Amino acid sequence: MKTRGALLWEPGTRSGWSVEDIEIDPPKEHEALIKLAASGICHSDDHIDTGDIPLPWAPLLGGHEGAGVVEEVGPGVTYVKPGDHVVLSFLPSCGRCAMCVKGKGSLCELAAGVLSGVAPDGTHRVHARGKGVGCMSYLGTFSPYVCAPLDAVVKIPDDMPLDKAALIGCGVPTGWGSAVYAAEIQLGDTVVVVGTGGVGMNAVQGARLKGARNIVAVDPVAFKREKAMEFGATHSASDWAEAREVVDGLTNGQGAERVILTVGVVEGDMLEEAQQLVTRGGVLVLTGVSPALQREVKLDIFTVVLSGKRIQGSLYGTTNARTDVPLLADLYLRGELKLDELITRTYALDDINQAFRDMHDGKNVRGVIIYD
Ligand SMILES: NC(=O)c1ccc[n+]([C@@H]2O[C@H](COP(=O)([O-])OP(=O)(O)OC[C@H]3O[C@@H](n4cnc5c(N)ncnc54)[C@H](O)[C@@H]3O)[C@@H](O)[C@H]2O)c1
Ligand SMILES: [Zn+2]
Ligand SMILES: [Zn+2]
Repeated sequence: MKTRGALLWEPGTRSGWSVEDIEIDPPKEHEALIKLAASGICHSDDHIDTGDIPLPWAPLLGGHEGAGVVEEVGPGVTYVKPGDHVVLSFLPSCGRCAMCVKGKGSLCELAAGVLSGVAPDGTHRVHARGKGVGCMSYLGTFSPYVCAPLDAVVKIPDDMPLDKAALIGCGVPTGWGSAVYAAEIQLGDTVVVVGTGGVGMNAVQGARLKGARNIVAVDPVAFKREKAMEFGATHSASDWAEAREVVDGLTNGQGAERVILTVGVVEGDMLEEAQQLVTRGGVLVLTGVSPALQREVKLDIFTVVLSGKRIQGSLYGTTNARTDVPLLADLYLRGELKLDELITRTYALDDINQAFRDMHDGKNVRGVIIYD
């Protein structure tokens, strides 16, 4: 089918997104064509434009946080049918590989190929200017239609609003799971979330749901700090020094049980700042992405060892999309998870570059592209 999509032809050059005509193939076996209602603007797509995540191929159809309605299914597909409401998960999980059967769906072997530039079968589903187009996360939600692998398609109830559901494709489970699963927050913990954007705000919500006593939101942007209080933060700070002061005051100088790092671009010297906030035996969760080629890190290893601290990487909040996407939708429908408040501004696809500028300018918790 012919439609439109936002492409990067020169990744890593900050060229911005080109909205143009694209052609999407019909779904093959184990695939479905989804008519999207909305796509979130996640910082991860921007990492490809800036070159934080270098891509050795182009063009890229961006976008990996979407929800919509099944339009058509490939031969033999029974898991979904036209009319079903679905979330597209930014990481697929096949349910058969070693990691999937161990319950670690976010580490599925298929997920390793999400930036390979081709569908899981090695071919292209999207074409533009006579070239094969690679899709972000096998998806490409910066287009009103997505031909998606079924392993990334998760059914949700019909009464779940699709624009809110879109955020459950990446930012919500990533932040929420970083708190609930990766940080293993316990009742009564003091938790610090550093960087309360689209991902971090959900770490705040996860901490609240787990019964954290103190939740300190750290962000240089006043609007984000104010918003974080609405999502359940109890205190806020604008930088590392102020965060130390607040945490020391709350914990009698002992430090926080959990610190979750969800800033837009993680720099090497942030690890030391973050570990200084963690108490003995506590956990530092790394969720925000650093430039992929960065190897320099500042860290007091001696203290980390002697105080038994844990540094834990968190991909997709270590969630399992097949169970956690419906759980998060249900929590929203019961009024226990805020999603409406995450959406600060909505945009037409043609305004996508403005949406990314607004993200950089700190104007949005999440910007969302709305399709017809
Ligand atoms: N691990 C994963 O699976 C996963 C999934 C999705 C996104 N991410 C990454 O998570 C990060 C956050 O994504 P997002 O969409 O929420 O981005 P965002 O731009 O919406 O939010 C980032 C926030 O960090 C704040 N910030 C910037 N510098 C800071 C600093 N020095 N101290 C404190 N706060 C600071 C910004 O003001 C902003 O509020 C990105 O690196 C993104 O690529 C990781
Ligand atoms: Zn994302
Ligand atoms: Zn798998």
